[in-house]
Amino acid sequence: MQLLVNDFIMSYTDAGAGIPLLFIHGFPLNRHLWDPQVAGLADVARVLAPDLRGHGDSQPTPGAYTMDIFADDLNSFLDELGITQPVVVCGLSMGGYTAFAFYRKYSQRMAGLILTATRAAGDSPQKRDERDAAAAKARNEGITVIIAGMLPKLFSSNTYIERPELTAQITSIMKSTSVDGVVGDLSAMKGRQDSTGMLAEINIPTLVIHGVNDQIVPLDEARQMAAAIPNASLDIIPDAGHLPNLERPDLFNASICSFLESIDQKVTK
Ligand code: MLT
Repeated sequence: MQLLVNDFIMSYTDAGAGIPLLFIHGFPLNRHLWDPQVAGLADVARVLAPDLRGHGDSQPTPGAYTMDIFADDLNSFLDELGITQPVVVCGLSMGGYTAFAFYRKYSQRMAGLILTATRAAGDSPQKRDERDAAAAKARNEGITVIIAGMLPKLFSSNTYIERPELTAQITSIMKSTSVDGVVGDLSAMKGRQDSTGMLAEINIPTLVIHGVNDQIVPLDEARQMAAAIPNASLDIIPDAGHLPNLERPDLFNASICSFLESIDQKVTK
């Protein structure tokens, strides 16, 4: 499905009925990251999974992207769909950075927040330099070099051995990202706000889901983030790395189902 959002055509998946559950993919991925959630959760929620600008089948736009631009795109996306009901927002990694930006601007339209494989802190000066170097490489050499750097870090070692099809699937997802999308993400991640100071003020139900073997965001960071958010719960997914929703969809989806039930109880109490 496609619709015009701000200045580009956005592609998205919209499946099921019930509380809207907005999934935001990470870098340099697309909505197909969430295929196991579309399959497993559309009977309990309205699952919305857009491609951010420059990703998957959404049009790329040139120039710098920011987390606020992504948040504005998602807000317009919900408006275009006519969704007025409060939404549960789930962001993975860069999608989590976007979820923080969305919370900052649009918390009034949120029923809950799910942060997975993500962190609250901003980039260190060294990390910002690395983002610039990666953007230059992507521009000069194409995104294959970025994919090669990401691939060994995405899964737990068990997943590489036992689920080789996931490596092929995630490679094909990454290959579909445009150069503008990759470069735009890198500048958005580099420039993002540090959300650590905001954690204590988050006043909607929050769930943190993290793979025990995440090589990109160590589990301790997720523990600290969950501890800093009032009443947040933390679900640690065994045998999973940076993409727990793909590696252990059974546990990931069960965690989301319990969270949705707890929100439902609060709403109907
Ligand atoms: C992601 O998985 O979205 C990115 O690797 C996060 C990051 O580089 O900070």
